[in-house]
Amino acid sequence: MSEIMPMVIWPDIRLTEIVAQFAVEDLGSPMVRGIADSMLESMYHYRGAGLAATQVGVPFAIFVTDFTWQASHENPKSPRVFLNPMIVNASEDAQQLAGKGEGCLSFPYQFNAPVTRHHSVTLEFYDFDGEKHTEEFEGYEAIVIQHEFDHLLGSLFIERLSPLKKDMAIRKAKKVRKRAMRELGAGQ
Ligand code: NI
Repeated sequence: MSEIMPMVIWPDIRLTEIVAQFAVEDLGSPMVRGIADSMLESMYHYRGAGLAATQVGVPFAIFVTDFTWQASHENPKSPRVFLNPMIVNASEDAQQLAGKGEGCLSFPYQFNAPVTRHHSVTLEFYDFDGEKHTEEFEGYEAIVIQHEFDHLLGSLFIERLSPLKKDMAIRKAKKVRKRAMRELGAGQ
């Protein structure tokens, strides 16, 4: 039985850590499977399209995704686990997420911003059997992959904004955090 992991929230320094690769012979171990199960359960609990290790205090190279469920929770769940993932190729053409832009579970201050991403990326990753896979993702899926992969390198989506937009994001985050702290204080 897996459990919901507490979310690491910006500006926690753990979000800037670079993860370590799993030893390939460990990939099928109960520890790795347990981490993956807990991360998937946590991703669904927090209603994300993806969740990366650094966001839940795990120091290893793993992220999980569901490309369809977040758009409509009526959709069947399609969980995916990527172990030791590495983006090995990226298209030159760029894209941005339509609508409000990207958000992040570690930056939960209703702040969304458009981030320029590669239109398609090639990802190498491992499964629990220690098999290496190469898969190409494009469009929305490629955005999720790039966002989660950045987390494993200790980088948040706000780092990819213009200095002005990044400043706006941080101001808004601080304001919302102050309000949340006040409400917490008032509730005691
Ligand atoms: Ni994120």
